[in-house]
Amino acid sequence: MIKEELQGLVRNKLKDYPFVVVSNREPYIHSWVGEEIKCLRPASGLTMALDPVMQVCGGTWIAHGSGDADPDVVDKEGKIQVPVEAPRYTLRRLWLSKDEEAGYYDGFSNQALWPLCHIVYVKPIFRQKDWDTYKEVNRRFADAVHAEIGDKAAFVFIQDYHLALLSRMIKERCLNVITAQFWHIPWPNYEAFRICPWKEEILEGLLANDLIGFHTLYHCNNFLETVDRVLECRIEREKYAIVRGGHGTSVRAFPISVDFAGISDRASREEVAGEMARLRHEYNLRQEFIGVGIDRVDYTKGIPERLKAIDLFLSRNPQYEGRFTFVQAAEPSRVHVEEYKKINEEVDELVEEINWRRWRSRWKPILYIKEHLSPVTLIALERLANFCIVSPLHDGMNLVAKEFVSSRIDGDGVLILSRFAGAAREFTDALLINPYSVDDIAQAIDVAVNMPEEERQKRMSLMRGIVQENDIYSWAGNIICEIAKFRLPVS
Ligand code: G6P
Repeated sequence: MIKEELQGLVRNKLKDYPFVVVSNREPYIHSWVGEEIKCLRPASGLTMALDPVMQVCGGTWIAHGSGDADPDVVDKEGKIQVPVEAPRYTLRRLWLSKDEEAGYYDGFSNQALWPLCHIVYVKPIFRQKDWDTYKEVNRRFADAVHAEIGDKAAFVFIQDYHLALLSRMIKERCLNVITAQFWHIPWPNYEAFRICPWKEEILEGLLANDLIGFHTLYHCNNFLETVDRVLECRIEREKYAIVRGGHGTSVRAFPISVDFAGISDRASREEVAGEMARLRHEYNLRQEFIGVGIDRVDYTKGIPERLKAIDLFLSRNPQYEGRFTFVQAAEPSRVHVEEYKKINEEVDELVEEINWRRWRSRWKPILYIKEHLSPVTLIALERLANFCIVSPLHDGMNLVAKEFVSSRIDGDGVLILSRFAGAAREFTDALLINPYSVDDIAQAIDVAVNMPEEERQKRMSLMRGIVQENDIYSWAGNIICEIAKFRLPVS
């Protein structure tokens, strides 16, 4: 879908009703760098995907103001027009205290719900105090939505697992709202979910929504099954709907995507070519084969297995020594959480150990770039690569895979992709791997570096066609068509 079509759809379907998006992470973060305020884009697939949609739809996005310079650039309601250089919508920032952040974000969201939903053998931690803070912060978001829309009829689009109770709390405050929620991470099966001590309240909170979206039908089915086993309600399986206390919730699959045209266009610009030259020069990236991985440092992303696979590939194919570099771009993430400290250390040590064992002269096999990289640098890296490894142990979708494909305007490059990422359902032309199997990944690297150009082009062209057809605007368009089916009373 093109932007203009989405614009028409928004006018036609949402009319003049206010449109409010709510998420924990904000799309633009203002930070002090020395004496200057810089505006950064966070490493979040969610915000990267939704920002172009908001630029088309307009409206207000409410999110946690997490940058140290955020308070310095907003008005008295916490608002700023973004993107700053060409404003298209309003960002309304909500401030959290350190205790709120610790309990709601580091605590219940990222130590309980995140591992609970991903099932990668990291135990969720359920603390009563975190849960209480989570509820309190959801209430604060509900107050912010209320302050924004008052008693007007409005559409509210809630994002992700940080805000499972929000819809119910909004509906207690505002009478004329339709709420939809998109769950960006996997929804586990009942056996996994049942260990959550507050499962009833979470499900009740989610069912206040008129529409709930997941990336895949598999997650929709898991959700229906979970609700069926936990709550008294009527499940209408053929309609993918749940009725509880007279209120109906539709459950639908909407595989999220990226701004294919925007990324392709950017990838063709001079600034990307310049950045590719800079990277080649600065990191001495002149080898015959360049592989790339781009991730937040998160234990769900399968980074250690990937690095071990590089090592194994080189052991099996010593002829590639000196001719091959794997660039791992890694953005530190959720650094106050113990499990994230551990995965950081594990990756640092593994890179050091492999490079120490294998280096010769000016060459080492892994280039580890652990810092925040701009969208231009990331596209340049994707364009430099012969192959990209996206190997999460479990992922709702994984937008790095779709960004890689969108950036390959040359129609070349091989994608090595985990079978357990939502993206694998669409990208059957990627080299699909079991991310737990180091052997499997090493074998795929072998296939990737030996793949004939014609086959690379064929596979890439099919994958580009899929993302072009199902881009972020069609994702938003499908959701908007679905929410517009619920009639709003006139305010
Ligand atoms: C995942 C979540 C998003 C989150 C992103 C980055 O993609 O689904 O909600 O924004 O990770 O994580 P962070 O904790 O930095 O927002």
